[in-house]
Amino acid sequence: MNKFLINTFGCQMNERDSEKIAWILENMGYSATEDKEEADLIIFNTCAVRKSAEDRVFGQLGELKELKRRKPDTIIALCGCMMQREDIRTFFLSKHRHIDIVFGTNNIHKLPQLLNRFHETGKTVVDIVEDTREIEESVDALSKYSYKSYVNIMYGCDNYCTYCIVPYTRGREKSRDPELILSEIEGLAKNGTKEITLLGQNVNSYGKTLERTYSFTDLLKDIDKVDGIERVRFMTSHPKDFSPELAEAYGSLKKLSPHLHLPVQSGSNRVLRAMNRNYTREDYIKKIEMVRSIIPDIALTTDLIVGFPGETDEEFMDTVKLCQEIKFDSAYTFLYSVREGTSAARMTEQVPDEIKHQRFQKLLDAMHPIGLELNQKLIGTVQKVLVEEVSKNDPFMLSGRTESAKLVHFKGHERLIGNIVNVEIENAKTFTLEGSLI
Ligand code: SAH
Ligand code: SF4
Ligand code: F3S
Repeated sequence: MNKFLINTFGCQMNERDSEKIAWILENMGYSATEDKEEADLIIFNTCAVRKSAEDRVFGQLGELKELKRRKPDTIIALCGCMMQREDIRTFFLSKHRHIDIVFGTNNIHKLPQLLNRFHETGKTVVDIVEDTREIEESVDALSKYSYKSYVNIMYGCDNYCTYCIVPYTRGREKSRDPELILSEIEGLAKNGTKEITLLGQNVNSYGKTLERTYSFTDLLKDIDKVDGIERVRFMTSHPKDFSPELAEAYGSLKKLSPHLHLPVQSGSNRVLRAMNRNYTREDYIKKIEMVRSIIPDIALTTDLIVGFPGETDEEFMDTVKLCQEIKFDSAYTFLYSVREGTSAARMTEQVPDEIKHQRFQKLLDAMHPIGLELNQKLIGTVQKVLVEEVSKNDPFMLSGRTESAKLVHFKGHERLIGNIVNVEIENAKTFTLEGSLI
């Protein structure tokens, strides 16, 4: 039987696409492997969001050169966000002669045809579909986990934050038909899925491209009624579109996880304007107050960029102060990375790398004690934890997530995976909790 290996870079969108690719290949009779030596087909699902992500792809692809020399029949395919960019594609194909198939984010469903074409001709196959407003619905993949699943609710992004490549790789914003989303979720629930995470670059603007009036909150209300689903999460929210209705939904919907990931990016109004984020620091604080007035102990996480072009020390300190004021449970913190083709790449005052690194460290030093303090508040509480996996180092150690998406380690038997259990929290670290089953 033919074997495939998928190496996924980037965000949850790519993880979900990789599940779809796996589903297509399994339907063709392939089976998955983790070992590149025994793989007949190796696929890199690439990410272009920062240079570091691209460098990882280049590095690992370079390592395959030697494998391809030893085993020339191994098919090497590239897909994902980097491939939607013509300049990057051309560069790849000129540098790496060992690539056999290239496809993009809009034509995953064509993989069987592309493989056939490659087998027939023996020549590199490049098939990229430029963005359309159409949504391809033919790939009905299950999640790789039985108990949790990502569900795409929309694709693309129309926001054009000035630093961001995503609108150029994932195309224009388009919402999936709610009936299709709901029937997918019902199907997952029948298969035992307890937790779903709704995916979109800006879920709060869900529904704008639909013919009828139907909002993200309407969708959440309908999902709340699906039997079997116990937890609903979503990523990612955009502060400018975070509505009072959505804040209220936290109070009224029983399955909505008490966690909000709301990327603020910067605490400086000048920088936010230059980023084209369309909200101010004050707007952001108001939205957080609005949601905290409904769920006071909601877990809040965010994304932050340090070293955006022209960011002064003072503007950077505005970000640090905002984080201290809001008290995020945790944050994904990124060094600004120049993306060719975006408007921030053309801004003249790029911040030197050394300063970016200093600011980055300073920001982490400010954030970590806050995360620890918030986690310590949970000591002595009993949390409902969805058991996810066994620790790699200890077969009796399990990990899972609380309703507010915090990672917990505790002792227990493997058979608990996929169940929701009660765990008493006994110890807290900056990023994780420890406890015991009760
Ligand atoms: N659509 C989501 C996030 C998509 S990308 C949103 O708007 O929140 C995930 C995160 O990567 C962004 O929130 C941002 O913090 C970061 N990011 C995007 N482009 C970047 C760049 N050029 N340099 C550094 N970080 C970047
Ligand atoms: Fe990128 Fe902004 Fe769109 Fe998020 S909202 S994907 S950061 S352009
Ligand atoms: Fe990367 Fe594409 Fe996601 S650029 S962050 S994989 S949408």
